[in-house]
Amino acid sequence: MADEIAIESMLKERRKFKPDAAFSRQAHVNGVTAYNRMRKEADKNYQRYWARLAKENVTWFTPWKKVLSWKPPFAKWFVGAKTNVSYNCLDRHLEGENAWRRNKAAIIWEGEPGDSRTLTYGDLHREVCKFTNVLKGLGIKKGDRVVLYMPMVPELAIAMLACARMGAVHSIIFGGFSAESIRDRINDAEAHTVVTADGGWRRGQVVPLKNMIDEALEGAKTVRNVVVVQRTGQSILMKDGRDQWWHELMKDASPDCPAAKLDAEHPLFTLYTSGTTGKPKGILHTTGGYLVHTTVTSKYIFDLKETDTYWCTADIGWITGHSYVVYGILSNGATTVMYEGAPNHPEQDRFWEIIDKYNVTIFYTAPTAIRTFQKWGDEHVKKHSLKSLRLLGTVGEPINPAAWMWYRKMIGKNRCPIVDTWWQTETGGILISPIPGAVTTTPGTATLPFPGIFPEVVNEAGKPAKTDEGGYLVVKRPWPGMLRGIYGDPKRYKEQYWSKFKDTYFTGDGARRDKNGYFWIMGRVDDVMNVAGHRLSTMEIESALVSHPSVAESAVVGRPDEIKGTGVVAFVSLEKGIEASEKLQAQLKQHVAKEIGPIAKPDDIRFTDALPKTRSGKIMRRLLRDIAAGRETVGDTTTLEDYSVLAKLRDSDEG
Ligand code: PRX
Repeated sequence: MADEIAIESMLKERRKFKPDAAFSRQAHVNGVTAYNRMRKEADKNYQRYWARLAKENVTWFTPWKKVLSWKPPFAKWFVGAKTNVSYNCLDRHLEGENAWRRNKAAIIWEGEPGDSRTLTYGDLHREVCKFTNVLKGLGIKKGDRVVLYMPMVPELAIAMLACARMGAVHSIIFGGFSAESIRDRINDAEAHTVVTADGGWRRGQVVPLKNMIDEALEGAKTVRNVVVVQRTGQSILMKDGRDQWWHELMKDASPDCPAAKLDAEHPLFTLYTSGTTGKPKGILHTTGGYLVHTTVTSKYIFDLKETDTYWCTADIGWITGHSYVVYGILSNGATTVMYEGAPNHPEQDRFWEIIDKYNVTIFYTAPTAIRTFQKWGDEHVKKHSLKSLRLLGTVGEPINPAAWMWYRKMIGKNRCPIVDTWWQTETGGILISPIPGAVTTTPGTATLPFPGIFPEVVNEAGKPAKTDEGGYLVVKRPWPGMLRGIYGDPKRYKEQYWSKFKDTYFTGDGARRDKNGYFWIMGRVDDVMNVAGHRLSTMEIESALVSHPSVAESAVVGRPDEIKGTGVVAFVSLEKGIEASEKLQAQLKQHVAKEIGPIAKPDDIRFTDALPKTRSGKIMRRLLRDIAAGRETVGDTTTLEDYSVLAKLRDSDEG
């Protein structure tokens, strides 16, 4: 691993982009002096700094007794304080000096077929209050888990904010996951209630969400209620005594529902993400710290203002959507744009059309999307002015400098700063990113930690790596938005994140730091792949493959992919008597889609008699990665048990 990191870290990029003076002047952090002041304050006493930001940016019902209680690896932020995330995202924009926001757009929603809706802060508050009463009417109590499996429609944000309002814990499952994955997550969360929709629109087709839920619920014993939003209108099964329409429940619901005064450490949500083992883990986030972190980073990193129309293209089913479509943005009282569908429907310029239609000022998307747009061609972009844009962001994977430069020139017209934001489901919010208006950027680097965050690159022994030397990315001190655990599995939480280095959070990423202290993220160093900005575990796909009766053994690795960043290659050995065929290849891909979801479908399946293993029986993934990428095998193969396996795999590749 260390070799690979060292090799990759040779990438040298020298282009520098100083913040534009006009941008800096109007920014929250209006230049290097202001930035240094912020950093100095944070470095001097990070708890006091976070406490100041918490006081200034979040409304609390009861103040904290202690900023941080840190018993590694368990952190509690704003101990003893009471607040409510839904209150901060809604009610406080309707009161006092902010009361005028009642008629300001909170959510501008664009459906894929071209329909649209705008919910003002007043509207959103009313709908959330009503749905909270619906949840209560269904018997949901504080602390109960509610599963949301929904398309990108305003009702998803409403349901989240309603859970937050009463202290129910939402667990959102991305609409691309299959029945099997849903069932596992529902069972793990022991949820009584699921909120879904008949379907959602994607590339002109209906994604049949309710059918998927029906299938998932066949093996999920805990669910008593399913609430169904009517979106696509096709006929679906409504099971008597279990399924009810959203609009019918909402008809008579009272709009009166004060926000519960919740402890700062009350659970807000769990979100499942892939780890290094077969089973996804429910990452737990709580109320106060998460709210502070997402509110403050939204404000400073996106330079979010009252006048902004902000659009993050992520699906709410991922952490980016939780933190930076909904919570961090609404908490700041800004306008958030939500789009339901695909970027190429009806044409490949849909995103640019939306930007011009709503005069979007801040645009946040993933490198994989940027590379796709680049491939589709500049002509689609050039049809639109994009003149409203003032800041661009990226997230999800390392951005290659060529894509960064295209983004800057073609979308940002060389005018908009780009914030390359590094973070994870576990971190809750952004940890490493330029502050626009203050930090000079270079394509390919997420630059510097947000003040008050203390990441470092360390070597195997946990000592700081030298300048430009590759190593492990860790975080040395707790931060407000950090995960509080893995739902129901404190042991796994300790092992996964806190066992490699003492009292230090291990991110699973490799990185290097250059002479300016800028962080260059080099991707995962564990068995997690980052495919089109989505996290997938090799083990998860392997166990899906071996659950097929024809498969004896499988090993899954990533290979570089021009668009997706990483492509998925599965090496499969078959049970005795089973013939390899193209038909079986297609079946196996379909099988993975069914077991996990279409996002996990291997790009390539290679049949092999045997997998290369060490004498102790461990699969030599490094060799497989080389073979998958078509690279010469570098490094040590002396522990390989059977050299002929390697030769055969190469032959099969050429054939
Ligand atoms: O490898 C890093 C990569 O995405 C991983 C986190 O994935 P997930 O939990 O799904 O969250 C994605 C959205 C926050 C990280 O471990 N990653 C995320 N952002 C960047 C990145 N890699 C490089 N540069 C980034 N800006």
